Order: sequence, then structure tokens, then C-alpha cells
Amino acid sequence: KKTINQALVIFGASGDLTYRKLIPAVFDLFMNDSLPEGYAILGVSRTEFSNKQFRKRMKEGIRQFAHYKEAEEKKIDSFLSSVFYLSIDTAKGEEYIYVKKKLSELNKKFNLGHNYIFYLSTPPSLYPIIPKFLYGQGLTLQQKGFRRIIIEKPFGHDLSSAIELNKQLQEFFQEDQIYRIDHYLGKETVQNMLVTRFANGIYEPLWNRNYIQHVEITAAESVGVEDRGGYYDGSGALRDMIQNHLLQVLSLVAMEPPNKITPEEIRYEKMKVFRSLRPLSKTDLKKNVIRGQYTEATVRGKHYKGYREESNVKPDSRTETYAAMKIFIDNWRWEGVPFYIRTGKRLPTQVSEVVIHFRPSPQRLFKAAEGTVHSDNQLILRIQPDEGILLKTGMKVPGSGYEVKSVNMDFHYSDLNDHYIPSAYERLILDCMAGDNMLFMQGAAAEVTWKFVQPILDYWENDKDAPLHGYPAGSWGPDVADDLVEGKENTWRYPCKNLAEDGI
Ligand code: BG6
Repeated sequence: KKTINQALVIFGASGDLTYRKLIPAVFDLFMNDSLPEGYAILGVSRTEFSNKQFRKRMKEGIRQFAHYKEAEEKKIDSFLSSVFYLSIDTAKGEEYIYVKKKLSELNKKFNLGHNYIFYLSTPPSLYPIIPKFLYGQGLTLQQKGFRRIIIEKPFGHDLSSAIELNKQLQEFFQEDQIYRIDHYLGKETVQNMLVTRFANGIYEPLWNRNYIQHVEITAAESVGVEDRGGYYDGSGALRDMIQNHLLQVLSLVAMEPPNKITPEEIRYEKMKVFRSLRPLSKTDLKKNVIRGQYTEATVRGKHYKGYREESNVKPDSRTETYAAMKIFIDNWRWEGVPFYIRTGKRLPTQVSEVVIHFRPSPQRLFKAAEGTVHSDNQLILRIQPDEGILLKTGMKVPGSGYEVKSVNMDFHYSDLNDHYIPSAYERLILDCMAGDNMLFMQGAAAEVTWKFVQPILDYWENDKDAPLHGYPAGSWGPDVADDLVEGKENTWRYPCKNLAEDGI
């Protein structure tokens, strides 16, 4: 991708994200020769650091988290010579003059063409404030160079705050200057869904209600809330994973073929999917949406705390660490096809995948091999880990008789000779530097997805009878979630074997 000279200004640069993800990702871009000739990175935060101290810390981050963590010291130092730090109180408008001064200095030094990206790696409470103060210094207007802003989820806490946030951002930036990161869209395997669907002649004719019985989208994690109890307890699985990441994945699975692979066309098609989500009725909320919270358990000799015992979590918290739902897309292609979505923390393993369940053959002519169940064709798009695609197909068990057994035809990214998969941040930062917003979320998409989940938030918050199911850490969530899946023989896929080694 072509990029022109520019600066990346990171607000909240003393935080964890900059250290673990952002700087390592930009360093990988540097190593892959993807940075323009003139570039500068300016970290801005309240914490006092000299350039030297900041660089030292960033070097540690690179050594730990970059793909090229083993790079020669010289290379890292050469990259870090364009990294600077500025300490200001980001909540005080008058201090932004220093940002402006620093940028004009860097602009001269590196010939940046006044092109600046502002990355807000800060608490969301600063999202409306920083743009206002940047505007106050004339830093948002694209007169001489481009000006872009990147923000991370959460884009609001519910529908009304999402609308409000969009309004506040759009007061100071045009919509096409705003890059909302959903890091799932930066994943290679998520992007590959478009290619699998639209670069192959064989799938698309089957990709509809006539041949597909149901679709599963799972994002399971074996970790608990770790040290993020404070944030998570005010959020929960629905806000943390479903409103954004999983609905984005759903839109790529369900969208119509775009006319062209351009940001406008793809965003347009995705938006049509969001608009076709069938609104959840009162009955749906009771029957088709399930929430759970992990409780303490000892698995294979190891003890795991319950969610309510985690630090910074209220002892009587009703925040869900698991959510599952059955939803429908009311359009020509998908009428009547259930989409099952689930996500949770402290499940047995880490896996994110989409499973397309095809309808069975019209007649069951063969018996399932002994000890197996009759499995219908499934196409599994594995987002992570062990990235790949797998087709489950029935074959005859060798020997006499006609018993059928399910076998896998699979492709693993790890089989590719050159399987360097850029991290989501690497891909997304590069796209923003190049002005390509295809993989970023539009303001309108954030609103329409909040609109879809809002009734669930309201039901869980306001209805005292809305159940919250406990599930032991290390299990696949509340048992009742099994009843969501229609059909006697159908269940969720439980992909436990050969997956994450850090599984429970
Ligand atoms: C983040 C959530 O957006 O995504 C986390 O806030 C979650 O709670 C993470 O763990 C999962 O991302 P990934 O890339 O590990 O699937």
C-alpha cells in the first residue's frame, strides 16, 4: 500500500495499548518497508517521560510483542529515532498549543506535508474532548495536508450515547476523516471471508436459505476478565464482543456480493445486513437470548475464581460474561435461517470461528459409522487460532457395507510457505495511513448495531425476572444455551480438541 509522509500522534501513549500493540505494529510496518520515507510518531500523555525514557519503554514493547521482536538493535534504534514524546494534560485545552508546536517542528524536520493521524488510545471519556481541543488549534482542518482520527471501541455505551458520540466527533471532523477501529476487521481470516465467498464459484450458489440450515458464530475465550474488571463490569459480553466484533463478522458472512471491492460498496452492503436484522420481540428476548456469568471451579487440579470474586467487580454484579442468541436476517437470501451467536470468557478454550451448516441430503441412505453421529456438511471458517478453512464431508467407511463417516478437507494458514499474517493493528494502521477506510466502522453502522442490541440491554437491566445463569469456569456456558439450537440432532459445535494449549 502506498503511503505519503505523515505523523502518527498517539494520545494515551503511556498506556498499555501503545506499548503492547500500537508501537510493535508500527515497528512491523517499518520492518516490512511499509512506512513512508518521512514519518514521525508522537506519543502524547500526562505521564512525564523524556524522549529517551519513552523510547526505552517502546523498545521493551517491541522486543516482547512485535512480529520482528528479534530484529537487530540498530534497526530498532533507527525506527525509534523518529519516535517522540510530549507530556500534556489532555483534558486542558490550553495545553494543545504544545501539540501544535511539536507537530510543526516535526513537520519541518521530516517533511511531513502537514499530514497527521490522531490516534485516541485513551479512555472513551476523552473522545469528544480531544477533537474539540485539536480543532481549537486548527489541527483538524485539512487545508495543507490530511487530518485523520482513529478511535477504538466502545463507540458509546448504548444507542443514545453512540448517537451523541457521533454528533460530537462530527462537529470537528468530517465522517470520512474518522476511522473507527474494530480490530476483528483487521484480522486476515475475517477479510478472507470475502475472498472465500466471492472469489470461488462453488460456494456462492449454495450460500442462501435453500442450502444453508443455520449459521454459528462463536468467539470463545479461556481467559477471564484478567485485570480489566473495572471496565468489563460496566460493559459485559454483549457490549464488549457482540455489538461490534461478532455483528461485523455476521455482516461479512451474510452480505450480498458487492459491485466492486471499494470501501463504499462494501460498507453499503454491510449496512443492508444490519438494517435487515429482525428486531427482537419480547418473546425473542425471553426465549432466544441467554446470558451467563462464570462461577468458581476447579478444573484438572487448577482453581479458577468466579467472576464476582475478580478484582474491581461488584460482589453482586449481574454483568454477563457469556451471551448467546438466535437471530434472523429478514431479507431474500436469509429468510428463516437462524444465526446463532455466542461468546464468553472462561470457556474451555480460545476459538473464534464461523460454521456454515448445510442442509442434509434429502434422504439418509447410509447409516452413520458406529460411534459417530450423522453429521451434515459444515464449512468452518476458523478465525483464530489455527487459522484456516475446513469442510466436513461424508465418506464411505472402507470395507464391506455402506457406512458413512464425516471427514475433514482442510486448509491451514500454517501450511503456506510464507504465512506471515500481519496483526490486526498493523493492517489497520497501514490502511488509515493510506486513507483506505474499508475495514473501519462507519458511524451509521455503529448506531444501527446499537439499535439492534438495545432491547436486550433494556431487558437485562430493567426486568428483574430476566435470568442470569451461572456456569462453572471451564465449561461451555449455561446448559440452557443448548436449547437455543433448533432441530433434534443439532447442537453448537464444541471445538475443543487440538486447539489452544492454554485452554482450561
Ligand atoms: C476486545 C474485548 O475487543 O476483544 C476483549 O474488549 C476480548 O474483552 C478481545 O478479549 C478479544 O479479541 P481477540 O482478538 O483476542 O479475539
